Amino acid sequence: MMRAVEFRMPQVLLQGPGSLALMGKEVKRLGKKKPLLVTDEIMEKAGYADQVKAILVEAGCEVAVYNGVGGEPGDKHVEAGLAEYKKNDCDFLVALGGGSPIDTAKAIGILETNGGKITDYMGADKVAKPIPPLVCIATTSGTGSEVTKFTIIADTAKDVKMLIASPFIIPTVAVADPALTLSVPPSVTAATGLDAFCHAIEAFVTKKEQPMCDVLALNAVRLVSENLRKAWCNGDDLEARANMMLASTQAGMAFNNASVTLIHGMSRPIGAVFHVPHGISNAVLLPVWAEYTYIAKPEKFARVAEAMGELVAGLPVLEAAHKAVDAIVKLCRDVEIPPIRELIKDKEEFEKRLEKMAHDAVASGSPGNNPRFVTEARIVELYKKAY
Ligand SMILES: NC(=O)c1ccc[n+]([C@@H]2O[C@H](COP(=O)([O-])OP(=O)(O)OC[C@H]3O[C@@H](n4cnc5c(N)ncnc54)[C@H](O)[C@@H]3O)[C@@H](O)[C@H]2O)c1
Ligand SMILES: [Fe+2]
Repeated sequence: MMRAVEFRMPQVLLQGPGSLALMGKEVKRLGKKKPLLVTDEIMEKAGYADQVKAILVEAGCEVAVYNGVGGEPGDKHVEAGLAEYKKNDCDFLVALGGGSPIDTAKAIGILETNGGKITDYMGADKVAKPIPPLVCIATTSGTGSEVTKFTIIADTAKDVKMLIASPFIIPTVAVADPALTLSVPPSVTAATGLDAFCHAIEAFVTKKEQPMCDVLALNAVRLVSENLRKAWCNGDDLEARANMMLASTQAGMAFNNASVTLIHGMSRPIGAVFHVPHGISNAVLLPVWAEYTYIAKPEKFARVAEAMGELVAGLPVLEAAHKAVDAIVKLCRDVEIPPIRELIKDKEEFEKRLEKMAHDAVASGSPGNNPRFVTEARIVELYKKAY
């Protein structure tokens, strides 16, 4: 049923191989001169940071760098980055990297104009003022953070990955240049690619579905199904990389407006407590989630099956829908996603934390968007099944 909805996105998206070269023109338009480049050491070693600095200098900027984002970001990274921003008297932010540097830059921006601690902003719409202009250059095909209103920052005192949502943190300029992803190793390609797949399928079946997002989400499902294996097998396949980047950005735009559901709700607590990378913590839950959820929206799961290349013509809708579950299991197996027990060897410790994890999952709000209803007790069962 049609209803009134909003759809938000960055002012500018530079997309496709070579699009990084178009960034200088957009930076000049911002009229600012002192960026803090937020990145990590791998981006510096790969030479991407120098490439970006050269474009910024050419656009008349004096660049300061914070490269301390190591692993997925926590409150401490945000504070350290903010100190660099202030010390260098910066006036805008440029993020270069996967979701980790991009999310860090968004959080630095929140504190720069709103003050306080990053934990003050957990949840939706707690950010009162716009952040400085923000240019985000994605180097993984995964989070879609370059187009979203979300940042995910660990509250290290509470072992919680905080979801912070605000329209003020949607990047001003997003760059999605797949040439920057040619160097992503296979394990990160698999994890981030399945993160994008989860964004797409969750945004497609969520209770907050909307027509604009449906188109983007279903196309992203198709693109990941057709290209993830290729990008994982041959990292230098630029066509597969370009299709994965397009999928990631489309999935990002879809879940930015239609939200994620139970997979992301359950995955953040695994990341927070056991420090499993975000894409992997989603991927290990994806097959169990699909089996649990497909009966709640079989028509949509049947369309997912078709987009994933399954033959569904003439099948009863429930059988067609289950083909999506089968295709998801195959995709995860093909890119060697392990079960949780191989990532978290201490089963007793895992089981001890399940109640907290289920509680935090529900508290994040994402499971409430799932088309099939869940309780904390049911979430505990699903964690055990995925183990
Ligand atoms: N804000 C959002 O909308 C959103 C959505 C989903 C996930 N996230 C968050 O994003 C973070 C994860 O981001 P991610 O999955 O992109 O991983 P990441 O940014 O942590 O990067 C993973 C690893 O890959 C390396 N890497 C990145 N790009 C590379 C390249 N081009 N070549 C070689 N190595 C490269 C990084 O240095 C790092 O070691 C998590 O904290 C997650 O919670 C945010
Ligand atoms: Fe994600």
